[in-house]
Amino acid sequence: MNTFLTDKNVLADCKIYQMLLAHAQKEHLSFHTPGHKVGAWDITELSFSDNLSCPRGCIAEAEKDMAKILGAEKSFILTDGSTAGVLSMLYAAKTLGVKTLAVCENSHKSVFNGCAMLGITPLVYPCEYREKIPQVPTMSALKQKYTDIIRQADALFLTSPDYYGNVADWQEIRQYCTETGKLLLVDGAHGGHLHFDKTKHAGGYADLWVDGVHKSLPALTQGAVVSACDGRTADALSAAVDVFRTTSPSYPIMASVEYAVKYPRNEVLEKAAIAFQQHPRVYKNEDWTKLCVRFGKYAFEVEKWLERKGVYAEFCDGSLLTFYLSPATKMQDFERLQSMLTDLFIQYPLQEEAEKIPQMDIAKTETEWVPLGMASGRTCAGLCGLFPPCTPLFHTGEKITEEKIRTLQNASNVFGLKDGKISVYKEE
Ligand SMILES: Cc1ncc(COP(=O)(O)O)c(C=O)c1O
Repeated sequence: MNTFLTDKNVLADCKIYQMLLAHAQKEHLSFHTPGHKVGAWDITELSFSDNLSCPRGCIAEAEKDMAKILGAEKSFILTDGSTAGVLSMLYAAKTLGVKTLAVCENSHKSVFNGCAMLGITPLVYPCEYREKIPQVPTMSALKQKYTDIIRQADALFLTSPDYYGNVADWQEIRQYCTETGKLLLVDGAHGGHLHFDKTKHAGGYADLWVDGVHKSLPALTQGAVVSACDGRTADALSAAVDVFRTTSPSYPIMASVEYAVKYPRNEVLEKAAIAFQQHPRVYKNEDWTKLCVRFGKYAFEVEKWLERKGVYAEFCDGSLLTFYLSPATKMQDFERLQSMLTDLFIQYPLQEEAEKIPQMDIAKTETEWVPLGMASGRTCAGLCGLFPPCTPLFHTGEKITEEKIRTLQNASNVFGLKDGKISVYKEE
C-alpha cells in the first residue's frame, strides 16, 4: 500500500486508509477472504471495516468528504472502473424516465453496451474533428446540426475531458438541459483531476457524472467515483450502483480512491505542462494532464523507440502519441520526457498526410470473420478499435480502409477483433 499511497499529509485525512493502517498494525490471523491470507491491507467486510454497499463507518465518511470535493450531493466509490459508473448512470437515468440518449459516436463502448442492456435508445451523432482530432461537441453545433436528435433525446451523454484533453463548454450545455428538462450525464473517466478547476469539472453542471480517478489521479487501476447532483438523482444512483458494483470491493482500491480525490493540486507541474503544450508539435487542449504530441506517420515508430528507452506513452492513434501526466508525476520525469521529445521533433519532422473519408453502407445483414489484412474495401459489421481509448476506429457499416487496417495492425492492444480477424458483411 505504501508504495502507491505516499503523501503522509493526505493519508492523515484518509478514513479508509487509517482504518486499514490500524488493522495492519495489530496481530491478526486471517480466516476470512481473500485466500492469499496476507490479510493486513487487502481485507474483506469485517466488523470494523464498514461495507461499501451499505456504508456507516469509514467508507461513509470517505464518500461524504469526496462528495464535498467533487461538488456532489452524493458520491459513490467504485472499484470496477468508470465502466461501472457509466452503467450505473444509465440505469439511474432509466429509472428517472430516460428512454432516449443523445450520444456522440466516439463515446466509450460502455455507453453503447449499457444502452443495449437497459433498453435505452442511443441517438448517435457523428464526431466533429479539428486537425484530425476528435472534439467534444459544443451545444451550438448540436443545436444547429443535430436538432432532431437532441430534441428527441430525454438525456444528453457527454464525454469530457476526452482522450485528447478536450473539455466541454459546460455553461451552454447546462443552460440547454435546464431549459429543456433533459438529464445531463457525463463520462469524466479522464477527468478525475479537473475538480481543481470548477469551470472544467462536470460537478456543478452534470446531473450524474463519473470521475475516473485512476487515470489522472494517484489511485489504483479501477478506482473511480460516480456522483449525483441532488437528492432525486442520488436516490436513483444509489439503487443503480447496487446493481453494477461488485459485492467484493477491493479495500486497497477504495483507500486509493479516497487518497486520490484528496490529493493536492500540483501547480508547478501544471504550469510546466501547459508551457510545453504551446510547442507547435503539441496539440493545444484544455487539460494539462494530456500531452498529445504529433509524429504523423512516424508515431508508431517513435512509440517503439521510446519503449526501448523505458518510456511508455498512454496511447498512439497512428499520428499522435499521447502521454498522461497526473499531479503525482515527478517533475524530473516530466523534464526527461520533454527533453527526449524535443530531440525527437528534430529527428522526425512532420509531413503532410492525405485525409481518407470512410464510406457508409449498412444495408447488408449476413456477416463473416475475415483476416484483417484481407478486409480492405469490405464493410465492417461491428465496433472495433484501439484499446485504449476503446472508441471505435471502425463503426458498423463503415468501409474498411488500408490506412486504418495499418493502425490496427500496429497497435499494441485492440478490441473487436478475433484472432486477427475482423467481422464484415458478406458480399452478394
Ligand atoms: C471515455 C471513457 N469512458 C469510460 C471508460 C471506462 O473506464 P474504466 O476502464 O475505468 O472502466 C474509459 C476507459 O478507457 C474511457 O476512455
